[in-house]
Amino acid sequence: MFIVLLGPPGAGKGTQAQRIATASKLLHISTGDMFRENVREETELGTLAKTYMDRGDLVPDEVTIKMLVERIGRPDAATGVMFDGFPRNVAQASALDAALRARGDAITHALLISVADEELVARLGGRWICRQCGKLFHERNDPPKRAGVCDACGGELYQRADDGAEVVRTRLEKQKPPLDLIEHYRAAGVLHEIDGQRGLDAVSADLFAALGLGVASA
Ligand code: AP5
Ligand code: MG
Ligand code: ZN
Repeated sequence: MFIVLLGPPGAGKGTQAQRIATASKLLHISTGDMFRENVREETELGTLAKTYMDRGDLVPDEVTIKMLVERIGRPDAATGVMFDGFPRNVAQASALDAALRARGDAITHALLISVADEELVARLGGRWICRQCGKLFHERNDPPKRAGVCDACGGELYQRADDGAEVVRTRLEKQKPPLDLIEHYRAAGVLHEIDGQRGLDAVSADLFAALGLGVASA
């Protein structure tokens, strides 16, 4: 399976990707996580990406596509991938299609998670992430057992720099999936539209059903 998760910032792409990955053993590739790792390691790519991420803008396509195509060329991406946060536009989608086509693969599912703006602001403002294992939490909707501590590994939880109110506004203005991207996958016959405005388990259930996977669990 080659799955793309589409949705605005805070829709739950990462959270649901973690659940799907646990259930399906699919490789989870998040371009946002890859950029953040580069920022942390102070690589040249990270320094460049940070200037865009800090403003809430997309990193330029040529940079993002090169990084992504390189990543899916590795052996662990040979049999299936769940893409989270990629593609963001038709140029990225076409590049991904071409890279997969060259090896005889294609996107099998495009899962579009829709959520209204006010809810997205609340989700991003309350998000906490494990520094060690990357597990996602929300202070009200999906709280850790102990505040500030990861349930899964005991790591310290942090909030993303781009989750501040001002940058969130820009991200919501500029980073919703564009209509032509949605149409790209509708035309390919792989689009599934999911109402992401509900609780975590209800959303997981729909996603798992679309993928033909067994019961969802946290
Ligand atoms: P990225 O990290 O991908 O950020 P994003 O698209 O803004 O999405 P988020 O990770 O913020 O949200 P999410 O949908 O994963 O939600 P989550 O599951 O965490 O990208 C960051 C930056 O990198 C971009 O701004 C850009 O600069 C750059 N970038 C990345 N990819 C790029 C690309 N392809 N091209 C160019 N630039 C790129 O959930 C959010 C919160 O809500 C959590 O706290 C969670 O617990 C909670 N929650 C989730 N679901 C529910 C629910 N159903 N009910 C209640 N709470 C919920
Ligand atoms: Mg995410
Ligand atoms: Zn952890």
